[in-house]
Amino acid sequence: MTSTSLRHSSLQNADATERVDGAGGVRTLLERDAVLADLEGLTQQATRGVGQLLLLHGEAGVGKSAAIRRFIDSVAGRFQVLVGCCDPLTAPRPLGPLIDMLAQLPDANGTGLRAAIEARDSESIYAEVLNVFGDGNQWVCVIEDAHWADGATLDLLRFIARRVESLRLLVVVSYRDDELGPGHPFAVVLGDLSNHAALRRISLSPLSAEAVRLLASGSGVNAEQLHHLTSGNPFYVTEILAAGADGSSDGALPRSVAEAVRGRLARLSERGRQAAEALAVCGPGADPHLLEKLCPGAAEGLSECMRAGILIGSGASVRFRHELARRATLDQIPEYDRRVLHRRAVEAYERRADTRAHPHGLTRREREILELLAVGHSDADIAGTLFISQRTVNNHVHAILGKLGVQNRTQAAGYASRALADAPPQGISYPDVGSTPCVVREQGSAAPAV
Ligand SMILES: Nc1ncnc2c1ncn2[C@@H]1O[C@H](COP(=O)(O)OP(=O)(O)OP(=O)(O)O)[C@@H](O)[C@H]1O
Ligand SMILES: [Mg+2]
Repeated sequence: MTSTSLRHSSLQNADATERVDGAGGVRTLLERDAVLADLEGLTQQATRGVGQLLLLHGEAGVGKSAAIRRFIDSVAGRFQVLVGCCDPLTAPRPLGPLIDMLAQLPDANGTGLRAAIEARDSESIYAEVLNVFGDGNQWVCVIEDAHWADGATLDLLRFIARRVESLRLLVVVSYRDDELGPGHPFAVVLGDLSNHAALRRISLSPLSAEAVRLLASGSGVNAEQLHHLTSGNPFYVTEILAAGADGSSDGALPRSVAEAVRGRLARLSERGRQAAEALAVCGPGADPHLLEKLCPGAAEGLSECMRAGILIGSGASVRFRHELARRATLDQIPEYDRRVLHRRAVEAYERRADTRAHPHGLTRREREILELLAVGHSDADIAGTLFISQRTVNNHVHAILGKLGVQNRTQAAGYASRALADAPPQGISYPDVGSTPCVVREQGSAAPAV
């Protein structure tokens, strides 16, 4: 099986009350039937004694855990299930997921493994793991969030991957693929495992506009806008709907969304965070060269943000993966800093518009002088008009001739007349400074805006 991007039709069958419960949690998993069918196919192989290792991946909040929970429910009674989680700890606990699983094993199965873990004896740990999964039962072993795995867990994964094919075992490993930069330890493991015969991959896609519309139906939230803001990310979608349903959002972002975004920004270096903030001020997308003007050193910060999965490069510009994350980032910039960044952004946009209209790099003052010169003003006239000294005008004129590469005022005036005649109308699009309500309430709806 190759990487699977899945859309399907189960969403047509669910009605709105069934899909979203009172607390905004989701009962019906939309657009995941095909994933669940693939998982079921893998369990059948495991049942035949041809074990499999599945990598279930997607961006943060795309619904990996929700799909796994649904899958675990579906194998209840047929498979022994063990679930272990990797945690975002500063110093991850060695073998954290295995220790989680130990607590779920019946004492009789777990004694040897417990002793081996306590003795920190890797050989015995590996042997005991094989004992557990080779006991004749059918096993599903889930390791959640492997992008946070400790080194010992990564080694254990390598060990199991080489042996899984001869066991009645399905190992499901979930991870955020948007957080794996090239040097990430789990990316190295993925490289090592890439040619294993028992390796399978499923990529989870965000929800379609149709699924978002279905989730939003009856909530009073504008579904089209919700999809635009969230790009169909189920975490963002469900959090906004939940905040809308209890009326607590008051036009701001739900706290859970703000905290999730803040948490990811907090993991960045100072430079990465500054670059993200500068981009947030510039609007939905910006040219990295422009950002460099607002925030010197932005290039490095931007690549860090891209490696962390917060930003994505598209064409010549860079943008937030989700518009909602941009707004949450904008909201967390202190008011004063936001205004400073905004002013710098406006200046940078204006300078760029100036440069485009005047490719010779004339400053605003030089342009003013050139325009007066083109209509026949002398240096003295210009000085009087602009309230500057004649000497200053003289210096500017000298600079203008140099920048235009012309010999005299007449040639400069000729250039100016042509430039003024050819100049396209300047449509400067200014960046977005304010924080705005994230979702507009549907017309005529009684539900609160989110
Ligand atoms: N297919 C779906 N249809 C409707 N809601 C969904 C779907 N998938 C996930 N959700 C909802 O979206 C939220 C986030 O899902 P989940 O926690 O599974 O994401 P995740 O990919 O595991 O995130 P993380 O990367 O943070 O672990 C949950 O509230 C879940 O109920
Ligand atoms: Mg999860």
